[in-house]
Amino acid sequence: MSSSASRSPILVTGGAGFIGSHVCVELINSGYLPVVVDNLCNSSAESLKRVAQITGVTPVFYQIDVNDKDSLRKVFATHSFEAVMHFAGLKAVGESSQIPMKYYRYNVAGTLSLTEVMEEFKVWKLIFSSSATVYGDPASVPIDEGFPTFTTNPYGRSKLIVEDILRDIAHSTGSSKADNQWNISLLRYFNPVGAHESGLIGEDPAGIPNNLLPYVAQVAIGKLQQLSVYGNDYDTLDGTGVRDYIHVVDLALGHVAALQSLNKTGVGCRAYNLGTGCGYSVLQMVNAFEKASGRSVPYKISARRPGDIASCYSNAQKAKAELGWEAKYGLERMMQDAWRWQQKNPNGFSE
Ligand code: NAD
Ligand code: UFG
Repeated sequence: MSSSASRSPILVTGGAGFIGSHVCVELINSGYLPVVVDNLCNSSAESLKRVAQITGVTPVFYQIDVNDKDSLRKVFATHSFEAVMHFAGLKAVGESSQIPMKYYRYNVAGTLSLTEVMEEFKVWKLIFSSSATVYGDPASVPIDEGFPTFTTNPYGRSKLIVEDILRDIAHSTGSSKADNQWNISLLRYFNPVGAHESGLIGEDPAGIPNNLLPYVAQVAIGKLQQLSVYGNDYDTLDGTGVRDYIHVVDLALGHVAALQSLNKTGVGCRAYNLGTGCGYSVLQMVNAFEKASGRSVPYKISARRPGDIASCYSNAQKAKAELGWEAKYGLERMMQDAWRWQQKNPNGFSE
């Protein structure tokens, strides 16, 4: 294993979070050194200790808010970054309607601070965490990158605004045009689930989970009584919502592929779906989790959740063709790994 000093440093904002911590593992596995900037507003530094336990390499960590440009400058002055992966942000759709200003401050203004400092230090390669939420309620499935974008909540809008900003930046013809080498990938994630196979890192939502899989896992372990299935009258195979669940390790590997492809492509800004191309219903997910865990997951059918759509799954061909990446883990493995994480860490990263 190469020492930290010989590894190329990659800035990973939000690297202590669910997806970021898994990306740190895969960056290390591919010979890079993750340098994490995270304010820990939705995570714990324990996740990075676990990354070190898994890989034998400790990510460099700075507890910094991405809106704090002076502190960011010090980080850029200390490390010679090859590229930046930008995960830092807030992600709860419902909450974003309650406190939209905070979402725009963190997600939009935070990205501007980061790109301004990147430009100062002439670091031009950026991978941005976007979301399938930018497709709104699509006219059909599977969804490809050419579908129209539309969104109905501040979280989704923050992702769309940042996508537009990054496209403008990549095509800018301002005073530093001669310098403009911006090379940006917008990665539109579908529904990340699962955990690292070690059971050492995984999703650790604060409070009662909003997302299906963490909720199901907490019902299976007895922390929550029963799942509410939000609607069984959608136009889907069994009436419940269909989504494209992707193993978080596959997603992490997609980031490494995107990073390596930035080194081969010219300047510009491109969007990629990161999904499996398969859709599963809520009830299929419950059944698969019961099988993997050997536990029962009691549920009741409830009213539809406002803002939910019937079906959302990807056409993942562009990422396969241009990044040479495709998801390899199936539903069974996603459930086994999610269950292992839940069992080993019933209270997440807290003692
Ligand atoms: P997460 O909350 O686990 O990770 C985000 C990390 O960013 C956290 O560690 C948090 O402390 C940090 N952070 C937030 N605001 C910050 C700020 N201003 N400065 C520094 N650090 C900050 O979420 P995640 O699931 O790992 O998501 C990562 C990214 O992927 C987010 O941008 C999210 O919007 C996007 N995304 C997530 C999903 C999903 O379902 N998990 C789907 C699509 C897109
Ligand atoms: N669901 C339930 N009960 C629950 C939670 C969810 O029945 O307690 C259902 C939902 O109605 C939906 C499916 O499970 O049909 C998945 O719901 P999630 O909340 O897990 O995920 P969403 O597809 O609604 O949203 C997620 C992220 C968004 C992101 C979107 C697309 O939370 O941030 O995927 O990437 F934008």
